[in-house]
Amino acid sequence: MIYDFIMYTSSMEFKTIIEPFKIKSVEPLAITTPEDRKEFLEREHWNLFGLQSQEVTIDLLTDSGTGAMSSEQWAAIMRGDEAYAGSHSWQRFNKVLSELTGYKHIIPTHQGRASEKILATITVKEGDIIPSNSHFDTTRANFEAALATPVDLLCKEGLDLLTPAPFKGNIDLEKLEALLDSEDVDKIPFVLMTITNNTGGGQPVSMENLKAVKTLCEKYNKMFLLDACRFAENAWFVSQREESYKDVEIREITKEAFRLADGCTISLKKDGFGNIGGVLAFNDDALAEAAKNVLILTEGFPTYGGLTGRDLDALAQGLIEITDRNYLEYRARSISYLAEKALEYGIPIVQPAGGHALYIDAKTFLPHIPPHQYPGHSLACEIYLIGGVRAVELGTLAFGVAGEDGKNDTPATHELVRLAAPRRSYTQSHFDYVAEVLEKLVEKKDTLKGYEITYQPKLLRHFTAKLKPIS
Ligand code: F0G
Repeated sequence: MIYDFIMYTSSMEFKTIIEPFKIKSVEPLAITTPEDRKEFLEREHWNLFGLQSQEVTIDLLTDSGTGAMSSEQWAAIMRGDEAYAGSHSWQRFNKVLSELTGYKHIIPTHQGRASEKILATITVKEGDIIPSNSHFDTTRANFEAALATPVDLLCKEGLDLLTPAPFKGNIDLEKLEALLDSEDVDKIPFVLMTITNNTGGGQPVSMENLKAVKTLCEKYNKMFLLDACRFAENAWFVSQREESYKDVEIREITKEAFRLADGCTISLKKDGFGNIGGVLAFNDDALAEAAKNVLILTEGFPTYGGLTGRDLDALAQGLIEITDRNYLEYRARSISYLAEKALEYGIPIVQPAGGHALYIDAKTFLPHIPPHQYPGHSLACEIYLIGGVRAVELGTLAFGVAGEDGKNDTPATHELVRLAAPRRSYTQSHFDYVAEVLEKLVEKKDTLKGYEITYQPKLLRHFTAKLKPIS
């Protein structure tokens, strides 16, 4: 096996994997004091989503839409053709995505969840079941809104957070076949594989697993779709960890993965290298027509979706740049570097490090804070208080079920904190700074307190809930 859980073999002759770009335009970072940060968080009732960006020094809330664009992308922006129908920008976008994915119909949307909404509208009906390795929150919510049941069939290695394995994003093939072979088979409109598996810790899916899903879908005559937001990061891990792909170009791995499926949804705010954008793509003519009919009602004409011409052009360029091996190596290395530091300090993390983020296991790290007092939230607040670094809780605050009449919440399966790296935005010294914040976190770990909610909305409470530390 060519795979090593932490170290990646660099193609370069140096130990240091440098950022494979230089900086042309800079934005100042907010440098704040501990007193400022406490005041900001108190003002926002201890909810990190309430902070203004100028109050955050290193923003690791998400890897979505926040990547710095290249000079070629900015040049593409100037080329943007804003014709309502059939613009040059659309033609470039369509050509790049057609070549990359091989799908017959490319349908632009303003972001991933708009593609999901259209997909749910045209393919999903009440009572349907949609199997996946893991559904992302918005995907799940869109299928649930169509009164269907999304089911996660993550492989058993993926369920074990702290033990490393090469492809922890895989689907459990036995469970998938059991479902396809059950009396529920007619309720399944398609199988959806998320690459990489964001909900499962940014873990990759092997080509072997994707091929086996294709075989099962053929056997049971089901459509096979990809949620391919991080298709290039997935291909990078395949090139590092799957023996038969070690000499294959990243772009070729990517093309092969898309061609195993019958269509995809993509949020182009991730591996599209864009600030905004999405796509829905199919081979099937009738589905594409149905999708375009909804698109015209909700997003726009089929040659722009919800995007400007300049967005389409920047994305077309981004989709060419994203499969650069040097970039992907630097990206994976940034995250695994942070993971090595966290492990050195004794912080329990999802292992191995994911493609776009480091995930801390707050349940293991803070055993003195029970799930209904939100250990992940406590950790995320402390990371901000120590160094102005913004992370996100993915635990009981985000996914638990609120307890009624003063009862405790039903906890989420895991209590994670995600530190997601925006693409091409931060340098090695920024990651060193984040590592130092984590080191200080360990010193304070036993003093951390749980939180209680003082206000919460009914849906998606973590975005706007008000909290206070339990004294
Ligand atoms: N699918 C996956 C796997 C995602 O990670 C996301 C977004 C979406 C779909 C929805 O795309 O935001 O363009 O509508 N993930 C972001 C995150 C928000 O922070 O993980 P979108």
